[in-house]
Amino acid sequence: MPLVSMRQLLDEAAKGGYGVGAFNVNNMEQIQAIMEAARETQSPVIVQASRGARSYSQDRFLYHLMLAASELYPELPTVLHLDHGNSAATCKSAIELGFTSVMIDGSLLEDGKTPSSFEYNLKVTREVVEMAHARGVTVEGEIGVLGGIEDGHGAGGDALAHLTDPDQAVEFVEKTGVDALAIAIGTSHGAYKFSRKPTGETLKMDRLIEIHKRLPKTHLVMHGSSSVPKELQDIINQYGGKLKPTWGVPVEEIQLGIRNGVRKINVDTDNRLAITGAIRKVFAESPEKFDPRDYLKPAREAMKRVVAERMQQFGQAGHAGTYTPVSLEEMARRYAQA
Ligand code: G3H
Ligand code: 13P
Ligand code: ZN
Repeated sequence: MPLVSMRQLLDEAAKGGYGVGAFNVNNMEQIQAIMEAARETQSPVIVQASRGARSYSQDRFLYHLMLAASELYPELPTVLHLDHGNSAATCKSAIELGFTSVMIDGSLLEDGKTPSSFEYNLKVTREVVEMAHARGVTVEGEIGVLGGIEDGHGAGGDALAHLTDPDQAVEFVEKTGVDALAIAIGTSHGAYKFSRKPTGETLKMDRLIEIHKRLPKTHLVMHGSSSVPKELQDIINQYGGKLKPTWGVPVEEIQLGIRNGVRKINVDTDNRLAITGAIRKVFAESPEKFDPRDYLKPAREAMKRVVAERMQQFGQAGHAGTYTPVSLEEMARRYAQA
């Protein structure tokens, strides 16, 4: 089956009341881990690549690996999504390469760091929606700027001011026509999200629920949603790593989100931790080994276990065969009629 539209995956998830994990990749082993987890759990798949991942893999390697995945796992509807596109040009090059979904993160300027104005975000997002929908490609936008609320974490002191404003979210969706909306509720990328288990003060699920009430038909996206499990931290530290104690987003909070409109959940860090822990273990226990397969195989297996667990927890397990994917051409026709 060819790579499919993310919009259709998320529409189906909304109908079924479940969420779909979007897992970041940079190489073959990560793609294999996701596809194997999806086959085991019979899940629809969202694989996503950041700009960094595209440059690491010269992106044609990544694209062709994804074509191999769609050939080898034809029973699984599979999306290739651009994570945090920083400009219309970046989204355009992804679409031309064959990505079936793009994120334009207009909450930041093109440098990917500086918070932008609402007007800038509207303009660049609208431009991408027009270009992408003409080809049946899905668009995720972002309103509000990701960052931790605790001092010294993520965006630090500014994070409260950058949480998604529900009024702006409504206006943004109406004026841009995005298919999915990433919101800022106190999560941040990476391993150091919270210095203790998050509470309603640091992880604003109430804000998410309010946005869902205002935009009941919009597919919400949670970024920075790794759970950073203590077991994965412990394996790394047990075998010579030096992670400081830290907390991620508890799975039960993500499940609360899924009951309130969250359809896409971005996870990268948990897989990075699983891979690194598995490799460290081999290096520490078998220092005589030097065949990369001796440590890449357990690394791939460790990532597969995390992904399969998330697929179960997000509720996408069992939904791979529950619908027939429509072509991007058909999606383009539907967008043109809407
Ligand atoms: O957006 C964050 C993802 O974890 C991707 O990270 O930009 O280091 O590839 P990256
Ligand atoms: P984590 O760092 O929590 O895995 O978040 C990944 C992400 O949001 C990618 O866009
Ligand atoms: Zn993100």
